[in-house]
Amino acid sequence: MKSENLLVTGGCGFIGSNFIRCMLADAGFQGRIINLDSLTYAGNPENLQGLAEEYADRYVFEKADICDASAIQEIFSRYRVDSVCHFAAESHVDRSIKRPETFIQTNIAGTFNLLEAARGTASQGSTFHLFHHISTDEVYGSLGPEGCFTEETPYRPNSPYSASKASSDHLVRAYHETYGLPTTISNCSNNYGPYQFPEKLIPLVILNALEGKALPVYGDGKNVRDWLYVTDHCEAIVEIMRRGTRGETYNIGGHAEMENISIVGMICDLLDEIAPAKAPRRNLITFVKDRPGHDRRYAIDFTKLNRELGWTPKESFATGLRKTVLWYIENRGWSERIRSGAYQNWIQENYGKRS
Ligand code: NAD
Ligand code: DAU
Repeated sequence: MKSENLLVTGGCGFIGSNFIRCMLADAGFQGRIINLDSLTYAGNPENLQGLAEEYADRYVFEKADICDASAIQEIFSRYRVDSVCHFAAESHVDRSIKRPETFIQTNIAGTFNLLEAARGTASQGSTFHLFHHISTDEVYGSLGPEGCFTEETPYRPNSPYSASKASSDHLVRAYHETYGLPTTISNCSNNYGPYQFPEKLIPLVILNALEGKALPVYGDGKNVRDWLYVTDHCEAIVEIMRRGTRGETYNIGGHAEMENISIVGMICDLLDEIAPAKAPRRNLITFVKDRPGHDRRYAIDFTKLNRELGWTPKESFATGLRKTVLWYIENRGWSERIRSGAYQNWIQENYGKRS
């Protein structure tokens, strides 16, 4: 990758932190990463512990909010940013249903601020060469029992979260068409793996099951998601940033469609095998009220990414889930600090007020 100063937004979150680790370990990238994150409840600098020391001249953290246009402009010029990988977002559907406002601010207005800063930089004859926008398959809405989302599927978002992500995708596309900003967009399916905040299905179920708590399954549990191990997602992003056609969109998925109830059952069985409890953990499964507007099924067709850039996922769902379960068992301290609220105080002491 020719970029020397890569701005990664939302690098203290789940996928962003995995991406930064992947990039810094990648022999093909010798540049510097500026990790810009406002440290919301989902941002945890512990996800990147040790990197500032290990990569002293190649990794720097900036606590800033993408909704603060002047702070963003200042960071662009101070670091001479010449590419962006934009992860920062409010990412949890249930929160968007309860409190949509921050989703509109961060996901739409924040993306606009970044695009404006990139446009300003690019127009000054700088080396700026890419704005990569991380998006989601949820922009396409819900599928029936057959078929997959392609890059041509019309947008039909159903939650405030997916509507805000759809808006941001349209802005990125418009900046390419109108101003010639070099952009790429990726729309990915459900990720899982290390460092995922334990409000999302897989880490929530692993941790609740380890603690003998109820495992909440929405509705009839037959909603389907297409699961992708997080490092496979990161590798796909690297390929798109390196060789993707500017102005294009690429779908990323795992070819791993699963009903929620099957995943919860698999996690229970894995835990019973690895860390046996007094009773089978399937006894903890509890059906609860459904999520309003709950999309029934997602599935991704990633033929374009495979054909043009040769990407395919390395991890199967069975191997990825086992790795994930083991990671959460081996890193109980990480999740205990989050679940007890202890990390909130630690971040406040070390990084100041949270957003
Ligand atoms: P996450 O919630 O774990 O992390 C989001 C990060 O963004 C946090 O570090 C948070 O502090 C930061 N952030 C939030 N608002 C900010 C703001 N205003 N300014 C600066 N930083 C801010 O999210 P994730 O699951 O890692 O998702 C990352 C991106 O990938 C999102 O854009 C999401 O829409 C997209 N995505 C996620 C998935 C998935 O399954 N998790 C799948 C497809 C796409
Ligand atoms: O598809 C990509 C999207 O995947 C990303 O854009 C989002 O950022 C990410 O959060 C994820 O959205 P989902 O809503 O699919 O993920 P979540 O883990 O919240 O839920 C997965 C499925 O499990 C969904 O059908 C709802 C269900 N669920 C979720 C929770 C938290 C439950 O049944 N019980 C639960 O407690």
